[in-house]
This record gives sequence, C-alpha cells and structure tokens, in this order.
Amino acid sequence: ETKRISVDRVNPEAELIKEGAEWLRAGELVAFPTETVYGLGANALDASACAKIFAAKGRPQDNPLIVHVSSLSMANSCVNNWTSSAELCVKNFWPGPLTLILPKTSLIPDIVTAGLDNVAVRMPSHPVALRLIEAAGVPIAAPSANLSGKPSPTRGGHVWRDMKGKIPLILDAGACEVGLESTVLDVSGEVPTILRPGGITREQLEAVLGDVYTDSCSENQAPRAPGMKYRHYAPQGELILVSGQRERVVQRMVQEIIRGHSRFKKVGVLCTLESASYLHDRHPDLLFVLGSKDQPSEVARNMFEGLRLCDERKMDLILVEGIEEGGLGSAVMNRLEKAAGKRTQHI
Ligand code: TXA
Ligand code: MG
Repeated sequence: ETKRISVDRVNPEAELIKEGAEWLRAGELVAFPTETVYGLGANALDASACAKIFAAKGRPQDNPLIVHVSSLSMANSCVNNWTSSAELCVKNFWPGPLTLILPKTSLIPDIVTAGLDNVAVRMPSHPVALRLIEAAGVPIAAPSANLSGKPSPTRGGHVWRDMKGKIPLILDAGACEVGLESTVLDVSGEVPTILRPGGITREQLEAVLGDVYTDSCSENQAPRAPGMKYRHYAPQGELILVSGQRERVVQRMVQEIIRGHSRFKKVGVLCTLESASYLHDRHPDLLFVLGSKDQPSEVARNMFEGLRLCDERKMDLILVEGIEEGGLGSAVMNRLEKAAGKRTQHI
C-alpha cells in the first residue's frame, strides 16, 4: 500500500530521503516534489522500473520521460554531445524549470526516450528532489505524477488521489512553487526550439540565447515533443476557456453561467482576482480565484489546483478566464487551451 509522508521542503529529513532512495534503487516508483509539479520517479537506468511509470499513469508508450539529475557529472552520463546553447542554458537556468533535449548516451534505455536518439534532462531546484536523486545515486526518470490526461499534481494530495494503491511512497512537501511544468527546449540543433512553454519564459531564454524558435505542431506534422499531441490537463467536466477584453469576457462568462444553470449543470468558475466579485454575484456553484491578471506567476501556481477542485466538487461545466500572453502567461494559456480542447472562445 501507498505511504504518504511529510518531508521538510527546505531541510528534508535524511532518513526520509534515504527511504525514498532505497525504493528507487530497488526498482520501485517514488513520487516526489519538484519546484514545478510533483514527479513520479524511477531509476532512469533501469528499463523495467521505468516501465512501471507507464503502467501507473496509463501513459502511452510513445511519450518519452524527462531524466532528472542532481549534478553536472550525472547529466554528463546521460548526454552525448553538449551544444554551446545547451551549456549556456545550464549556466543560466539550472537548477530550475528548464528541460534540455540533447543526444543521449547508451546508458539511457530506449523506453525512457520512446526510442528517440535524444534524451530530455533537467536539474530541478527543489531541495527534496535534489537530495533524493543524490541519495539514489542514479538519474531519475519522472513524468508529472498524475494519471495520464489529468491536470498535473501541485500538492501531495493530488498525487495521493491519482496514485494511491499504485506506488509504495509519496514524499509530500506541500505546494509546488512554480505550479506548472518545466519549459522543454530542444538544444540539439542549430537553433534552440521551445517544444513546450513552461517555467522559464521565452523572454528569459532569448535574453541569453538570442532568437528562439517555437515548435508549431501543425495538424499533419508529428510534434517534436510527443507529449504535446495528447489531450491533457483535462478535468472531468466540460471546460470553456474565455479570453480577450476583460469586460466582454466577464459578460460572456455570466451568459454561460445562466445557460449552464438553465440546463441544470453545476457551474465552476476559475477567474482572475479582478473579475471575482462580479462573477461571485452570479452565484456559480464554485468560484476559484486564480490570482491577479497582472501576476501570471500566481495564476500558474494555482491553475492545476483550481482544475482539480472542479473535479472534486463535480462541476459539469467549468468556465475559465484566460490571461494575457507573454512571459509565464503564455505557458498558462498553453495548458488552459489544451485542457479546453476545442472549447476556446476568444472575444
Ligand atoms: O516540470 C516538469 O517537467 C515535470 C517535473 C516532474 O520535472 N515533468 C513533466 O514530465 O512535466 P511529463 O512527462 O509530464 O512531460 C514531459 C514532456 C512531454 O511533452 C514529452 O513528450 C517531452 O517532455 N519529452 C520528453 N522526452 C523527450 C524527448 N526525448 N524528445 C522530445 N520531447 C521529449
Ligand atoms: Mg505531464
């Protein structure tokens, strides 16, 4: 059965780290906090341990895993050929929410990269993650610790709901600071390319690397980050994302609340602080404040909690207010658009 233990986020208790490391070395799965979201970890050098990750999440086999490291020498053991842009990224953004795509060494089993020649590597900054990887003494493969397709877990309780009974141990260090996943940056070629926007913004990357491309995964082209093609982050209820000029967004959300209630639906609203009092007056069944429209980092931190709350409270219809693109706003909107599927209204 699954054990969920509280661990100090700043000074993780040595005996708890040791227990986690022992499970990992024994080929078992351990869920642990990172600064972005909780990860579901396995020894990245052990193919059968990594296979358990796919089984526990219900994850498609063609979606590769990020390999987490606690030192540069560990990263070196995974990566065959560092480019100069990769080195700049390491200097400026590690440890932190940036995943680098680079040619893999033969140490990395095929299951980790889904047969690709490149591996995704990241050095997280969360003390629990760093200590755990260090103690395990091997790189740790870890996707987000949610069931495949569900919103990513940003609290121990989220992992518990998705993974209880499936893994031996959850290390719970409370809420994740960033709250959305790392940026995935392909630095294997000439021009650095963002495969998934995330915790390190395009603006931050460009300040260091110059121009950075974005992988526009068009309909008929295989996306370079295989994970981006799946429906993602989706709550149970129908989700409508409304973005644009704020007064009009609020008006549209009010219309949708009324329409939802006329169809006997439980309506959840996720909105900015600025819109909250107005929408509150329209009596949605759940009102969750994402944060200030001018503080995308707040919205990033709270977004997955809000989506998961809607599931827990069984909302049939979920109305989400979009925020402005740019900086972390772009990563937030990327997740919300995926959660909404085609139900995005820009007005
Ligand atoms: O913040 C994060 O990145 C979290 C924490 C736990 O580190 N992890 C995470 O993993 O979000 P996951 O598995 O949920 O998302 C990994 C993404 C997927 O879109 C996957 O397709 C892509 O990274 N990816 C992994 N390996 C890749 C590779 N070799 N080439 C291209 N894309 C890759
Ligand atoms: Mg994920």
